[in-house]
Amino acid sequence: MPQDLLIHNLAEIATPHGTSPRLGPKQGQIERLHGAEVLCRDGRVAFAGSPKERAQRFGELPEANYLDGRGGTLVPGFVDPHTHLPWAGTREEEFAARLQGTTYQEIAAAGGGILSTVRSTRAAPEDTLTANTVRRMNQLLVWGTTTAEAKSGYGLSLEDELKQLRAIARANAQHAVDLYPTLLAAHEVPPEYRNQRHAYVELICHEIVPAAARDGLARFCDVFCESGVFSAAESRQVLLAGADHGLKPRLHADEFVDSGGAELAAELGALSADHLMAVSRAGIEALALRRVVAVLLPGTSFFLMKERYAPARELIEAGVPVALGTDCNPGSSHTESMPMILLLAVLHLRLTIEEALTAATLNAACSLDLGREIGSIEVGKRADLVLLDCPNLLHLAYHYGINPVAAVVKSGRVVHRVPSF
Ligand code: NIG
Ligand code: FE
Repeated sequence: MPQDLLIHNLAEIATPHGTSPRLGPKQGQIERLHGAEVLCRDGRVAFAGSPKERAQRFGELPEANYLDGRGGTLVPGFVDPHTHLPWAGTREEEFAARLQGTTYQEIAAAGGGILSTVRSTRAAPEDTLTANTVRRMNQLLVWGTTTAEAKSGYGLSLEDELKQLRAIARANAQHAVDLYPTLLAAHEVPPEYRNQRHAYVELICHEIVPAAARDGLARFCDVFCESGVFSAAESRQVLLAGADHGLKPRLHADEFVDSGGAELAAELGALSADHLMAVSRAGIEALALRRVVAVLLPGTSFFLMKERYAPARELIEAGVPVALGTDCNPGSSHTESMPMILLLAVLHLRLTIEEALTAATLNAACSLDLGREIGSIEVGKRADLVLLDCPNLLHLAYHYGINPVAAVVKSGRVVHRVPSF
């Protein structure tokens, strides 16, 4: 039997509650328990409350492992619902060019951008992609992420998309962070299909989707629904093919221009609509009506030096549940750090710190269909927890540019602890 873990000496436990997405005023409802402890048993949260009540109900627990909170704050493990983890190659020259004024779209039009990473990812062996993914998972973990979604989308052929998905599965099997895989074969039209894009959509629907589903390599299907990439009609076709094979839809929607992506997400009952920098009012209303989670990725606006951020306040006020993710990729948002994203969310999306915490935990979990399992510190949920070296929740954003994570617990086991703690 695995040993119990008791996390004690905490200043505060801060967590949202529930198993479904929190929206509107409830997005910011966080429970903040002072002087409480958490008992993890069999990988799950068995108790969260006062030391006195714990002693009454569970006794002294002489066999348990202890994690001394040292006056820190315990929050649920962060859930990153949007990453492009298994890539090869780097694009620092493009970054430097962007600093000189070249735009992301100009770089893409010149054959760089996503297609540059496609070239290096196609050339990389599966072992390299696996090792790269594991390296990035190490970063996810030290910044407090315990579960992440991971997309293909730099292969753009049957063989290379499956290679990326296999790399995700292999990395997942050897690392404490849990990865949930998404097929994003519709990330871009590959060069060899430039003049026959219809044939590429057919290839995705009739070969890539069935193969990814048959081999159990993907759980979700995603599309870059954007003017100049895949139209709403093409995106619908791909996502319906995915759904036919049991892959739940989520999509890159209205990132740079309003392309009807939000409306499509609502029509299909997608788990999430992501980016939404350019979402229309009608799109927001459609998302609210179907309770689609808006996964906002402020790292992309920030790293691309855009003035425009997604209309987070409008989304929350309309009743759309908001989640946050890194969009970790080599072009538009090169970070694994959810605390960095929380900072951007409060400064640029104007979320409160409480709303941002819900967005980075429970709502993100719900966008992966995992709201019953993770995303909050509650009895019965998996004990995925982050100990912050912060006297209270507000310091998570208030003290910026540092890594606030002192320790990470995954399924009731301490899997990371900074040496000084
Ligand atoms: O989510 N929008 C499309 N895809 C990524 C960017 C990928 C890249 O630049 O390599 C994104 O921003
Ligand atoms: Fe993305």
